[in-house]
Amino acid sequence: TMEKHNIVTCTAPVNIAVIKYWGKRNEELILPINSSLSVTLHQDQLKTTTTVATSRSFQEDQIWLNGKEEDITHPRLQSCLREIRRLARKRRNDGDSPLDPSILSQKVHICSVNNFPTAAGLASSAAGFACLVYTLARVFGIEGELSGIARQGSGSACRSMYGGFVQWIMGQKDDGKDSLAQQVEPETHWPDLRILVLVASAEKKSVGSTSGMQTSVQTSCLLMHRAESVVPGRMEEMIEAVRGKNFAAFADLTMKDSNQFHATCLDTYPPIFYLNSVSQQVINLVHRFNRHYGETRLAYTFDAGPNAVIYTLQQHVPEFVQAVQHFFPPERNGGQFIQGLPVNQAALS
Ligand code: PMV
Repeated sequence: TMEKHNIVTCTAPVNIAVIKYWGKRNEELILPINSSLSVTLHQDQLKTTTTVATSRSFQEDQIWLNGKEEDITHPRLQSCLREIRRLARKRRNDGDSPLDPSILSQKVHICSVNNFPTAAGLASSAAGFACLVYTLARVFGIEGELSGIARQGSGSACRSMYGGFVQWIMGQKDDGKDSLAQQVEPETHWPDLRILVLVASAEKKSVGSTSGMQTSVQTSCLLMHRAESVVPGRMEEMIEAVRGKNFAAFADLTMKDSNQFHATCLDTYPPIFYLNSVSQQVINLVHRFNRHYGETRLAYTFDAGPNAVIYTLQQHVPEFVQAVQHFFPPERNGGQFIQGLPVNQAALS
């Protein structure tokens, strides 16, 4: 007999925060201690592609990441699956689902691949969970607000549910219903903005974001000061810089916020070091470059790893690439200097 299969494939891009999320007030629901803001990359740059299939013949839910089967009982994966099925059941009970109701009793097989090295420590969970939730929603016929579900997979994933400039509003409620992502400006807003990734190390990060955040919340008093007294004002300034396409303001805030995030890591006890000597050299290079031109033309930002993400405008890309090649000549690439994807240019439009 012919089995009826349901198969959907979607892609979701990585996002790079310019106001960082670091620290949860609720671990299970993934509710942050501060709001954050990021830029979502273009679909054909760094992205995850996920295929979800359902079938009566599947015996259990299963997931493969980059070709290797992973543990489906992972609690955050389970949160996403449970929430999607709950919404699907609700739609069916409301008599409002276009789908074959038997799909709710079927198991899913999930296949997810990244088009960039997962080991490079680039934000892979953000694109991964955003893509998973979006694809599952399509399979189960769910529309509307999905960032609250993606958030329960990985906090930063909620921001990859939208393109362009996206804020994750921390929210006030204990149930997390108001802790959602919202587009500030669409991807067409600032066409000459560019993102470049400098891979300083392809090694896996030493301390994952989940345990790093826990230790920071428990031990760093700088972190609470940042969340309560610094980020709220910075979010407003950042939104204004984005709306006005004010690159210098955008870049200065981006660098200060990255530095403060890494300062809270150093203030964590025992301290967490995500930046290495190459990261420090990139920071110095960016400040020298900006000083040389007498204006802020570049911004760096670092997540939970040593790889630099550079924001600049299209017209400054050639000079910056030249400076990188001058200060990090290819023959010195012995694992110490920039290697792998040396300059990965991501267009925004
Ligand atoms: O969503 P997570 O748990 O991978 O945390 C991401 C944290 C940072 O990348 C360091 C900052 C951010 O806002 O993306």
